[in-house]
Amino acid sequence: MKDETAMPRKIIIDTDPGQDDALAILLALASPELQVLGIVAAAGNVPLALTGKNIRKVCELAGRPDIKVFAGCEGPMQGSLFTAEYVHGASGMDGADLPEPTMPIETKHGVDFIIETLMREEAGSVTICTLGPMTNLGTALQKAPEIASRISQVVLMGGGLFEGGNVTPAAEFNIFVDPMAAEIVFASGAPIVMMPLDVTHQVLTTKARVAAIKALATPVSEAVVGWLEFFERFDEAKYGTEGGPLHDPNVIAYLIRPELYSGRLCNVEIETQSALTKGMTVADWWGVTDRQKNATFMRDVDADGFYALLTERLARLQA
Ligand code: RIB
Ligand code: CA
Repeated sequence: MKDETAMPRKIIIDTDPGQDDALAILLALASPELQVLGIVAAAGNVPLALTGKNIRKVCELAGRPDIKVFAGCEGPMQGSLFTAEYVHGASGMDGADLPEPTMPIETKHGVDFIIETLMREEAGSVTICTLGPMTNLGTALQKAPEIASRISQVVLMGGGLFEGGNVTPAAEFNIFVDPMAAEIVFASGAPIVMMPLDVTHQVLTTKARVAAIKALATPVSEAVVGWLEFFERFDEAKYGTEGGPLHDPNVIAYLIRPELYSGRLCNVEIETQSALTKGMTVADWWGVTDRQKNATFMRDVDADGFYALLTERLARLQA
């Protein structure tokens, strides 16, 4: 477990809230091991205008109106935006009714914020956490390829192998929405840690886990429970499980307690052309090719340990 008193790890969060994104942001803001340099809105679960608003609602819920929030790109690097209101609701964060935000959104474009931060901060000192389609990071890398060598790590939620896809049989949503951006990121040479569906499908919002969060009895926990109870209904019906997979907070939990996760360094390529398998993360888990090993593909997680961390940190947020 990371030492809470050590120098905090500098991170940029790129996100498309999304109830699970919201929990990831709360976990990051509740954790002294991390310094959130800024949060960039991505177009994904819902359009950009809503994700930008949702991020600010979450920051204010956490009592952090000081956080710098930026709007990124309106849609994928190629093609049109595919959204997921069918999972997250029209607002993107249905299940809890939070007030309209009063904190501002920055005028600087999120892509420029990513580039300027990486060029300003010491090389290798900033981690990029992507929780949605990787449009903003892909665009930043295309605009300023020199940032790739300055990134400490890209820790992303996306992809899948043994679990297949959740939008098509082959593709997970974040990669499916912008496969070109994902291809750029995976080819960039930046160190990558992937939290694919193979991990997140082991992290289910069971009744006991939701009850433990509900027992915190704070405005934050009330919102979180509302989000979880709304968000899980779709996947419970789809997978027939008790609770649904909680995806994005695994990215943040990895930064705080990496020992909760295990996987292996392997080659991961992105399918960008095929109509049948567009957005597939082709992970060479068994090492049958000699392709460059460009990503740590996480496959196992201590789910109880994850929820113990999440619940303990949410308790620290007394909005
Ligand atoms: O496939 C799950 C991912 O897509 C999560 O990041 C969820 O928030 C959506 O963006
Ligand atoms: Ca997301």
